[in-house]
Amino acid sequence: MRLTVIGCGYVGLVTGACLAAAGHEVICTDIDEKRIGQLKAGKVPIYEEHLDEVLQRAVADKKISYTSNAGEAIRAGDVIFICVGTPPKESGEADLSAIDHVARQVATEARSPKLVVEKSTVPALTGVQLQKALAAYSPASGPKFQVASNPEFLREGTAVGDFFHPDRIIVGVEDAASAARLREIYQPILDRKFHCPIHAGGCPKETSGELLVTTINSAELIKHASNSFLALKISYANVISDLCERIGADVEEVTHAMGLDPRIGAQFLQAGLGFGGFCFPKDIQAFIHLAASVGVDFEMLKAAERVNKQRLERFFEKIHRALWVIKGKRVAVLGLAFKANTDDIRFAPALEVIRKLLEDGAIVHASDPEAIARTKPIFPQVVYHEDPYDALKQADAALVCTEWQIFRKLDWELAGQLMARRLVIDGRNLYSPKKMQELGFEYHSFGRV
Ligand code: UGA
Repeated sequence: MRLTVIGCGYVGLVTGACLAAAGHEVICTDIDEKRIGQLKAGKVPIYEEHLDEVLQRAVADKKISYTSNAGEAIRAGDVIFICVGTPPKESGEADLSAIDHVARQVATEARSPKLVVEKSTVPALTGVQLQKALAAYSPASGPKFQVASNPEFLREGTAVGDFFHPDRIIVGVEDAASAARLREIYQPILDRKFHCPIHAGGCPKETSGELLVTTINSAELIKHASNSFLALKISYANVISDLCERIGADVEEVTHAMGLDPRIGAQFLQAGLGFGGFCFPKDIQAFIHLAASVGVDFEMLKAAERVNKQRLERFFEKIHRALWVIKGKRVAVLGLAFKANTDDIRFAPALEVIRKLLEDGAIVHASDPEAIARTKPIFPQVVYHEDPYDALKQADAALVCTEWQIFRKLDWELAGQLMARRLVIDGRNLYSPKKMQELGFEYHSFGRV
């Protein structure tokens, strides 16, 4: 099938690349001409495991193309995937102006009927507005449009794997024909009929979930309800971690045991600096806002958000207790990205940590395997090191902000020899308190004694 992808960010590029790998003819467009230029030159503007390889193959197979001409892209596809950004406004409400802009473009540029699919994360009831906008801006004799919602559940860092091996594919539709079309698009994924960059010898059977057909409103809600639930789970673990500190229990022991109950599950119970990134913080706010707009007070989510913001205070309480005066101290920040395996620093807890350290007069040295280039323009006064051991030289304290594998495997005996003082404050609970103490470190983490 001929598909159009509007917006070449994380979601759009992964969607375009993977649908091309599934055998469709995909045309991608973006208002950022520089980005389209990079893509045409074979450069992938984001760091996402396997994406480069999948795109290269799609280009070689002539399954994907790029254009900055939105009209051309809109006319080329039978189905249009909207993958533009929906950033938060000051109020927390999702800014849907890019969706509105695309709706008007589709309405005026299309010459034949289209199925217009929301892939960007949008609050419930956006589909209704999208339908209205498409109808309002298309000429009287213009083509007809159907709308669908097909939310993505891609995690940054494993987005390609998540696309090829989804837990579930949700298609929110208005009619059976749209459902059938979307099923046809995803059939190669359900049947695992694509070149998988992850499983060379063929994908294991259990790696694809089912396709669920719902209403558009339900599909939109499923996305926000899922992300918000995961955020709630993290904040819950963080409150348990605070309790553990007061009571003298170990949060890892507690959450491990909780996670063995299949009704609870082990994932997303990792206590520490809390959640960041461009999804959870904004989605939780948009969901609270949406609920309020229809008269539902989502108190529970507000609490989860509050708990998450307090993580930074908790972290600094630990820093102050251990380091005492921050002014003039050399501090090594290990990790800038909001989580491991991505170069994304949006709403990254590490950035807040650095901002506060600089305010307090610290001399900040930082290391991250992927995110230095993105952080430099924000904090030019920080000294950056590719090698974490260089960041640790002469440091009065090391602060762990991201759970990169390279940090998990650090040789702390060597690091201790390089540091001015053996002090580690770990925002991601990466190390064994006992081992760190044996190495002569003053070691602080979350919820462990
Ligand atoms: C999240 C969801 O996991 C995806 O399913 C969803 O599609 C995506 O948002 C989206 O809406 O686009 P992502 O933001 O890439 O994916 O990152 P996660 O792996 O979910 O982690 C989010 C944050 O929670 C990170 O800052 C991570 O460090 C933190 N976290 C995660 C914890 O603090 N504790 C945990 O136990 C797990």
